[in-house]
Amino acid sequence: MTKAIEALKKLVDGSDNMVFFGGAGVSTESGIPDFRSTNGLYHQEWKYPPEVILSHTFYKSNPEEFFRFYREKLLITGVRPNAAHEKLAQWEREGKLKAIVTQNIDGLHQAAGSSNVLELHGSVHRNYCEKCGKFYSFEDILHSEGVPHCTCGGQIKPDVVLYEEGLDQRIITSAVNAIANADLLIIGGTSLNVYPAAGLINYYRGNKLVLINKSAVARDLAANLVISDPIGETFSQL
Ligand code: OAD
Ligand code: ZN
Repeated sequence: MTKAIEALKKLVDGSDNMVFFGGAGVSTESGIPDFRSTNGLYHQEWKYPPEVILSHTFYKSNPEEFFRFYREKLLITGVRPNAAHEKLAQWEREGKLKAIVTQNIDGLHQAAGSSNVLELHGSVHRNYCEKCGKFYSFEDILHSEGVPHCTCGGQIKPDVVLYEEGLDQRIITSAVNAIANADLLIIGGTSLNVYPAAGLINYYRGNKLVLINKSAVARDLAANLVISDPIGETFSQL
């Protein structure tokens, strides 16, 4: 066990009020590419930049291309939670972890058994008719063709926060409360590039801040412990 893992273990063992704040890097060890790494989604060739395709304007003006990208890049099948998801679920069961605040839309924290998961950017597992509100599953969208439509004729929209769209205020409030009251905050697998999500960590008032990220993050963080190894590999040693 390295010194850093030992230090992390000590912090985790001593806490019964942890919060985890994460992003796409939490799921790369499950086989889902992140956005900003060199093999991430934003470095692949598409007709339009992914940030453009994943915007509200594009969804409205070019839904065919939006859903082509969405099905191919965001509806990833056959993925399983990795050691990071599993460890977080275990800490919640043990009463040590109070909330997971995630920017991920893949549902892997819930698949690992976590229940208090605050999904800032929504989920690919929820889709609603824009006209009558009827629910549709991940599989419904995966197996539909072109622009998916409801039995009532309305267009079905994934419950995913697109660029230009606001975040759910109730989720923001719960995330702020959890972070503000945490004694240990672990931030992992996120470049902290996307706001307002990244700004939520500013509500942390404690003095036990851990950052686990493979690459340096965009903003300066006064972290007490920084680990630059893969998060699943790291958590599996705890
Ligand atoms: P990014 O792709 O910006 O950042 C992921 C970070 O995780 C990178 O800094 C990687 O170095 C790191 N990383 C990758 N694999 C890792 C691993 N196994 N262990 C530790 N670190 C690892 O993803 P996010 O910060 O989540 O928004 O991006 C935020 C938002 O940008 C996403 O939610 C998405 C995107 O646009 C929407 O779709 C609304
Ligand atoms: Zn409908």
